[in-house]
Amino acid sequence: MMNLTLKIWRQKNASDKGQIVDYPISGISPDMSFLEMLDVLNQELIEKGEQPVAFDHDCREGICGTCSLYINGRAHGPQTKITACQLHMRSFKDGDTIYIEPWRAEAFPVVKDLIVDRTSFDRIQQAGGFISVNTSGNTQDANAIPIEKENADKAFDAATCIGCGACVASCKNSSAMLFVSAKVSQFALLPQGQVEATDRVLNMVKQMDEEGFGNCTNTGACEVECPKGISLENIARMNREYLSASLKG
Ligand code: SF4
Ligand code: FES
Repeated sequence: MMNLTLKIWRQKNASDKGQIVDYPISGISPDMSFLEMLDVLNQELIEKGEQPVAFDHDCREGICGTCSLYINGRAHGPQTKITACQLHMRSFKDGDTIYIEPWRAEAFPVVKDLIVDRTSFDRIQQAGGFISVNTSGNTQDANAIPIEKENADKAFDAATCIGCGACVASCKNSSAMLFVSAKVSQFALLPQGQVEATDRVLNMVKQMDEEGFGNCTNTGACEVECPKGISLENIARMNREYLSASLKG
């Protein structure tokens, strides 16, 4: 069992200044997940009549992308290619001090404690992250359209982006290029995505800029910290898509 000191960002609401608060915690099993460790802390806080720490979570299995925690200065913690909910306490040692903070980006304002508002990502998706398909009953079976394996694999890899925002949180410019490029690429590589391709990339990039995300300066921090291993290759593809759409427009 481990004894730890947690240093957690507490912020009552969006306008509160916020501060780091120390919480000693004991009896933590190395087999607990990081979020289970926070559950233990919250149970103790509730029993003492204190406010529990607000943090986002849903699936707890690396799929939904809500568990946005900055742990010891890294998005999703010290391990690569996993989300915070897949992190286990065996990654830490007895006596460790662990800093836990929310994502920091102008376009992701803090709602409370460790929860940030990521609806900016939703608005980017709404600007073009979809295809329009006739579902009146005469839709062609998708499997009837042959797709080159290399493109199918790359489209699938891009589609594994879970919209967590770790790429933004890890980028010194708070750029959302890796996220947006994954969403553009998953359609750009497939025939079904071609109909709206020009509008999609122009509208999604426009919305990204309006939301206040910074510019990409190719530092590559996003790719390193992305829990799904989304490749920088997608950013290059989106830049090509954007250039060609701008010339058409
Ligand atoms: S690109 Fe990676 S880090 Fe960024 S939102 Fe998608 S899954 Fe998260
Ligand atoms: S809680 Fe769903 S990805 Fe972590």
